[in-house]
Amino acid sequence: MSNLRNIVILTGAGTSAESGLATFRGPDGLWEGHRVEDVATPQAFARDPALVHNFYDARRARLAEVEPNAAHTALARLDAEWPGALLIVTQNVDDLHERAGAKRLLHMHGELASGWCLRCNERFGWAGPMGNGGACPACQTVGMVRPDIVWFGEMPYEMERIDQAIVRADLFVSIGTSGAVYPAAGFVQTARYHGARTLEINLEPSQGSLFFDERRYGPASVEVPKWVEEVLAGSPNV
Ligand code: APR
Repeated sequence: MSNLRNIVILTGAGTSAESGLATFRGPDGLWEGHRVEDVATPQAFARDPALVHNFYDARRARLAEVEPNAAHTALARLDAEWPGALLIVTQNVDDLHERAGAKRLLHMHGELASGWCLRCNERFGWAGPMGNGGACPACQTVGMVRPDIVWFGEMPYEMERIDQAIVRADLFVSIGTSGAVYPAAGFVQTARYHGARTLEINLEPSQGSLFFDERRYGPASVEVPKWVEEVLAGSPNV
């Protein structure tokens, strides 16, 4: 693609699947065995905080058992070497992009490795279990820390910066996401409207696949490194 300068990359659970982290939808999906409204809404947390803490404590503990895969590594390399503007917007709450070395990265749905105190409103790094709300490292209040995760019904983080990057993008790439959850599912249409070329990389067509100019189907660990090679080599086809 000539004049390619500004790239926005949206990633979803499929990017981390080959690291051994469950995706949300599909036969072995994370929501299997849990109803979303029991563990991932503010109402669920108000109703049964212990259940919600258990769910996220288990997911946080799992982070220590997994490693970034070739897709994360390739995206970190692109981030390091791409001379133009680049933004990786992840819906994932794992830390595999940053562990692979990505720097130009936003977590629009929050992070497992972060806590948020509902008393003093501070956010801070959090390792280990949150138990029943832990003790806030900022205000020391006990029992008021919640997972720093954007739940259903809550506003995703960093929307202004994301929108600005998408409006300027020459290329928008969506990797490993089913296109089921807004506002992320609508980014492709915004990008197109503002003149970006759009590419989907996924195991199978997503719900929004028809909005993409180009589609590449296969495992992220294979397709993403291939695509990154092409971009960095200046291929006219990317
Ligand atoms: N390589 C590429 N794509 C894959 C792979 C893989 N190895 N494995 C699975 N996929 C694809 C699936 O085909 C599916 O389209 O990844 C997608 C995962 O979709 P979801 O499970 O719906 O995950 P995601 O799109 O990230 O979910 C969005 O939903 O529940 C919320 O907040 C949660 O951030 C999450 C949001």
